[in-house]
Order: sequence, then C-alpha cells, then structure tokens
Amino acid sequence: MKFSVSLVSLVAAASSVAAHGVITTPSPRVVGAANQAACGTGAYTVLKSDKAGPIENAVAKIDSSFDAQACQLFFCKGYQLEDNIKNTRKYAPGTVVPIHVDLIAHHTGSAVNLATQKTIGKPLFLWPVYANDSLGPSAWPKNETDFEITIPDLGSQCSTVGACAIQWWWYASKVRQTYESCIDFTQ
Ligand SMILES: *[C@@H]1O[C@H](CO)[C@@H](O)[C@H](O)[C@H]1NC(C)=O
Ligand SMILES: *[C@@H]1O[C@H](CO)[C@@H](O)[C@H](O)[C@H]1NC(C)=O
Repeated sequence: MKFSVSLVSLVAAASSVAAHGVITTPSPRVVGAANQAACGTGAYTVLKSDKAGPIENAVAKIDSSFDAQACQLFFCKGYQLEDNIKNTRKYAPGTVVPIHVDLIAHHTGSAVNLATQKTIGKPLFLWPVYANDSLGPSAWPKNETDFEITIPDLGSQCSTVGACAIQWWWYASKVRQTYESCIDFTQ
C-alpha cells in the first residue's frame, strides 16, 4: 500500500464533495430522457445531480429499472446518443481541438483520451499520472485542464453520428473512482 492513512482519509473527505471532473469544452454528452429510460431512476438521478461525479456513485444506486444492455455506465458514463443527436460536430483529419476539463477535486490517478468504445489507434493524449493530489495549485500541470488533440484520418469509420466519440477517461486509483466525458463527432 503506497499511500499513507492520512492521505486516504483526506481523500475520503474529498470524495464527499459533489463534483470532481468533467469536460466543459467542447460541449460533451449530457443526461436526458433516453438515459433515464436506459439507466433507470436510481442511476439517472445520480448522473443528473452531479455531472462531474464519479461513475461509481451511479453504480451504487442501480435499481431494478436499470437496463444493463442499454446503459453502459463505463462507456460515456451511460449517457445516450439519443439525448445528444444535435450535440455533435464534424472534424476533418488534422483538426486541432482544444479541450477544457473542469477539474474540481484532485485525486491522483491516470487518464487517457481515446476515441470510441473500442479504442481506435493510440490515445490522443495520455497522462501517466493525473491530478496528483500531493501538488498545490501552482504545480498543477496546465495540460491536465487545457490541452489540444489532433484528430487523425479515420477513413470512413466515423461518418455516421454515434459511430465515434472522443472519450476522456480518468481513473483515480487512490479513491477508486472513474470519470468520463464524451464528445460526439463525425468525419
Ligand atoms: C505526486 O507529487 C509528489 C510531490 O511532487 C511526488 O512525490 C509523487 O511521486 C507524485 N505522485 C505520483 C504518483 O507521481
Ligand atoms: C503535460 O505537461 C507536463 C508538464 O507539466 C509534461 O511533462 C507532459 O509531457 C505533458 N503531456 C503531454 C502529453 O504533452
């Protein structure tokens, strides 16, 4: 166990904070009626109340109205394409996309930026250590909250809405919490 008890209790306090991290630019997928239908009332209520919260909080509230086929909580946080049909954009190969993460609580972990539920190619941006909670604000790497990715040439595989998304994934190993945001796009 590499973390001290005092750090674990500090993190436990932080995890009661309502929100931790979410992409705010470009506008990511959000919750809606299709999410409620797929994920059921319990998980939906958590997802709706805290857009930056860890997925595990929603898992904890899964009830009998949860549809495990339709609601993949660990893919795009269970947010549904049907709620986001108009929230998509077209990226030509080589487009540089500036991304902003609203990082509300720091929990040490690793993060990756990938495309599609099955990853296409290499991560577009990779942080081997993300949101190190031993660092003070002046030492926070700027690229944890503001970074750019370059969209690769994806051939024809991303031509229809819903086929591809940019997914930001952060697993905070210390508190065992997962954060995700998805940006739908076509090419
Ligand atoms: C977090 O930052 C501290 C202070 O710089 C450093 O000692 C520690 O190794 C870092 N943690 C990780 C997982 O890199
Ligand atoms: C992010 O910034 C840190 C320094 O703050 C740097 O070491 C790291 O290489 C950068 N990551 C990428 C993927 O550019």
